[in-house]
Amino acid sequence: MGEMVVVAGATGYVGRHAVLALDAAGYRVRALVRSRERAEAPGAFDAPSLRGHVADWCIVNYAEPSTLTDVCQDAARVVSALGVTRQKASPWDIDFLGNLRLLEDAERHSVASFLYVNVLHSDYGTSLTMRAKHAFSQVLRRSEVAGQIVNPSGYFSDLTDFLLLARKGIGFTVGAGESKVNPIHGADLADFIVEKMAGPAGSWDVGGPDIFSYREMEELAFEIAGRPPRLIRLGPGATASLGWIADRTSPRVGNLARFFLESLGVDAVGTPIGARRLEPYLRSVPDQR
Ligand SMILES: NC(=O)c1ccc[n+]([C@@H]2O[C@H](COP(=O)([O-])OP(=O)(O)OC[C@H]3O[C@@H](n4cnc5c(N)ncnc54)[C@H](OP(=O)(O)O)[C@@H]3O)[C@@H](O)[C@H]2O)c1
Repeated sequence: MGEMVVVAGATGYVGRHAVLALDAAGYRVRALVRSRERAEAPGAFDAPSLRGHVADWCIVNYAEPSTLTDVCQDAARVVSALGVTRQKASPWDIDFLGNLRLLEDAERHSVASFLYVNVLHSDYGTSLTMRAKHAFSQVLRRSEVAGQIVNPSGYFSDLTDFLLLARKGIGFTVGAGESKVNPIHGADLADFIVEKMAGPAGSWDVGGPDIFSYREMEELAFEIAGRPPRLIRLGPGATASLGWIADRTSPRVGNLARFFLESLGVDAVGTPIGARRLEPYLRSVPDQR
């Protein structure tokens, strides 16, 4: 029987691919989820259903620490792709405190490793998302459990938004859009997670096989959408004003605006892994206009 691996964030884009890759590699998966029903339905952005791939289900609520007690019992390892993206919660409560509670349980049960899906340059941004992720990665480095910290570039799932906006005729760049990104497919990241999970502690910056500037990404999105590119260029004044307005709209909107505007303004290129290409993926995204 394969080792038991606890997967947090199992219903997310990366989490779903990670569960399938672990199952395919002969591990048994204990999935921490809010809803088994949702987990067994197909995910967004072509991410797979978990039906038939999970040995053990745990229904958890990261706001109620008691629901995390002993989730690591008899488990060998933890993989966490837990984090707030589109959900209505504070990244501090989930990305930091949720992962911290899980790590404390992993330490109590002496698991061999804890692989954390972080984000490229979490040490740089001023958004609560970046601060919470960086804070947890620092805690993990100091744990007695071997911590593997994977820092990915943008996911195909997130970059789908460029295409969806281009189909509405909207596109923008921060500055001239010269910052670069090498987007990665969830399944390629999942294979990397399985490879690194059983090895030593470490930290890896990773991305997909193709490097795009954000301007090139926008141009590709408009080309696939079949529309002439119409890009709004946001200079430093416009990004500062947008951040100011977003901060006063709500903490959640402020955090998201800060996260995206800062991310679009810096290179996010990791070591290329995997073979899945962004362009055929974007061309396969159904047009639901
Ligand atoms: N998207 C990108 O381009 C990108 C790039 C680099 C790194 N990352 C990081 O990679 C990680 C995985 O990203 P992803 O795109 O796979 O995210 P995702 O699809 O939103 O999945 C996030 C997972 O965390 C869970 N979660 C979020 N908020 C929660 C809450 N309040 N209570 C309980 N569970 C909660 C979700 O559960 P539910 O399904 O129940 O909501 C889901 O299982 C995140 O930490 C993200 O910050 C993302």
